[in-house]
Amino acid sequence: MEDKKKIILDCDPGSDDAIAIMLALFSEKLDVLGITVVNGNRILPKTLENTLRMKQFLGSSVPVYAGCVEPLVCNLIPERKPELPRVTKNDCHGDYLKLPEATIGAEHQHAVNYLVDTLMESDGDITLVTVGPLTNIAMAIRMEPRIVGKIKEIVSMGGGHIACNISSSAEFNYWADPEAAKIVMDTPVPKVILPLDATWKACISYDEAKELERIGTPAAKFAAELAKLRIEGLKVNDVSEHNFELRHTPGTVAEKVLYRYDTDRAPIHDALAVAYCIDPSVVTELVDCNVDIDISLGLCDGRMVADVHNTLKGSAPVTAKVALNADSGKFVQMLFEHLSKTVPVK
Ligand code: RIB
Ligand code: CA
Repeated sequence: MEDKKKIILDCDPGSDDAIAIMLALFSEKLDVLGITVVNGNRILPKTLENTLRMKQFLGSSVPVYAGCVEPLVCNLIPERKPELPRVTKNDCHGDYLKLPEATIGAEHQHAVNYLVDTLMESDGDITLVTVGPLTNIAMAIRMEPRIVGKIKEIVSMGGGHIACNISSSAEFNYWADPEAAKIVMDTPVPKVILPLDATWKACISYDEAKELERIGTPAAKFAAELAKLRIEGLKVNDVSEHNFELRHTPGTVAEKVLYRYDTDRAPIHDALAVAYCIDPSVVTELVDCNVDIDISLGLCDGRMVADVHNTLKGSAPVTAKVALNADSGKFVQMLFEHLSKTVPVK
């Protein structure tokens, strides 16, 4: 039997993070060594509480580690961005997951120390799956640069090639700590980036959420509730997940078209990163290109630029792949299959 993929999941629950956690813990193909938590969708005490509620809800034994409370430096620059977390009018997360309060605790070790120690002691066979701001990962790299040679791969939900959500140019995870994202993207670690352009191609519809609910397991019912929360939240979200689609009729100039998504479906961004680790074929278009993160303040602050035109002309080896499309049907089926379970793998 194929060896399980060893992963550490770094997250900021978060409604889609919660579904990503369930997918990871129910997968027979993944060995989740630990879950590290970061400030992001909400302040760390809340993202940590939500992670512990998920661990308790699933009956998992996977250790949870509390990570960085603040981004590296970005909120030292007042005019750069409002205080994090930026909660939008009809946010699709909520402060706390609607689960019983956690009566379990996190490990005593800080997430950054856990990342450094675990990676340095490893055989270089651990994949980091990141579904929140990259503060913990960047801090670990700064603390012990040698971990760069020990990380097998980074699979990261974040960025937007054409799509954006938190500003007119950026996606939340990389915008929330641009310097951290740049530190991570500048490393030679093999990376697979799952930006909004891919996650918006793997939505779950309201009808599919009701089908998920009918499966009847605790995980499926909770995931259905979260999916509906996301569909409703994104409908009138004031920092809307505007999507752009580059429509290119041969012989004409590509036009960048702003369109509002169908309002009866929503992406489960973070779950696609885990789904990719389980079955890479869920991503149907991967472009080999490096990415850079804009840290120059202003309108492009936190923007991920995927160098699809190879503008850097080989000035650095290409170590990243950027997903631009996904198989929505396969993604939803993976959710149905895994969330039909009742006992996590560990
Ligand atoms: O932009 C989407 C990302 O921001 C997801 O990880 C979501 O959980 C939020 O953190
Ligand atoms: Ca997240």
